[in-house]
Amino acid sequence: MRWFGKRVFLGGWAAQRVLITGASGGIGHALAEALAKRGAQVLISGRNQEVLSALANRYPDHVVAVSADLTNAEDRSRLVNAARMAECNMLINAAGSNQQGFFDTASDHDIEQLIAINLTATLQLTRALLPQLMTYPRAMIITLGSTFGQLGYPGQVTYCATKFALRGFSQALRRELADTRVRVMYIAPRATRTAMNSPQTEALNAALGNAVDAPDAVALAIVDAVEQQREELQIGLPERFFTRLNTLWPSAVDRALLRQLPVIRRFMTSKESVS
Ligand SMILES: NC(=O)c1ccc[n+]([C@@H]2O[C@H](COP(=O)([O-])OP(=O)(O)OC[C@H]3O[C@@H](n4cnc5c(N)ncnc54)[C@H](OP(=O)(O)O)[C@@H]3O)[C@@H](O)[C@H]2O)c1
Repeated sequence: MRWFGKRVFLGGWAAQRVLITGASGGIGHALAEALAKRGAQVLISGRNQEVLSALANRYPDHVVAVSADLTNAEDRSRLVNAARMAECNMLINAAGSNQQGFFDTASDHDIEQLIAINLTATLQLTRALLPQLMTYPRAMIITLGSTFGQLGYPGQVTYCATKFALRGFSQALRRELADTRVRVMYIAPRATRTAMNSPQTEALNAALGNAVDAPDAVALAIVDAVEQQREELQIGLPERFFTRLNTLWPSAVDRALLRQLPVIRRFMTSKESVS
């Protein structure tokens, strides 16, 4: 679809006013820095005020920080007001969390928490910002999913549920807004070296030979995807192949993952929670 196309970058990044959630975390932080360096005005959000302030202090002309727990309605509303004041025409949903571990060890609270931040809060924030985004000649909503938004994976059951849902959300919203000036993009990173992944997960990735990207590399891929007006980006050739295979021939993927299961079990014997 070219009609969102080059018009977005008539003014380049310098014309963009971007709200980035999850900016105190690995990918969001790298992305905020990349956009500030390119001249965008960036409103960064997360819960860790110290990390946010340090980033804002490094780019005083380009970055403003607002700390907010996105699962809290008052915090969300404060952030939406800040985005209105900052006249943000781009929203990047990068906040998220994970809880590795087998599903039978997850509590009701774990499940609620993960769905609340990864899914409910993302939808609620996007909906609250939509009327504002629709007032601009060009606007964009970018949501970070995951390879696990297209590939059900052992030890990632609730996370997969949230990321599959975010992919559906982005696709449906893109089609719903197709006759407006708001474009919707979905980005699926593969494993990335951030605080989201515990040492056990890193060891599991190493044991399985999974590629792990640096957050800076993911940020650059997202910048590139936005500049090229992509609607979806899935990072990683093997991951793209595996998710296509999962769609076309899921029983082959079932068999491949059954072979990996003993290794996954070995690294996930206890519940880990990263929030
Ligand atoms: N790392 C990976 O392997 C990987 C792979 C594929 C996709 N992703 C996706 O990429 C996105 C960014 O992940 P990351 O790797 O950068 O993770 P990260 O380093 O753990 O950062 C997560 C970010 O989300 C924020 N966050 C979590 N709960 C929040 C809440 N209740 N309210 C507000 N902010 C909250 C964190 O804020 P505080 O730290 O301030 O609490 C932090 O800024 C996520 O959507 C993740 O699912 C990551």
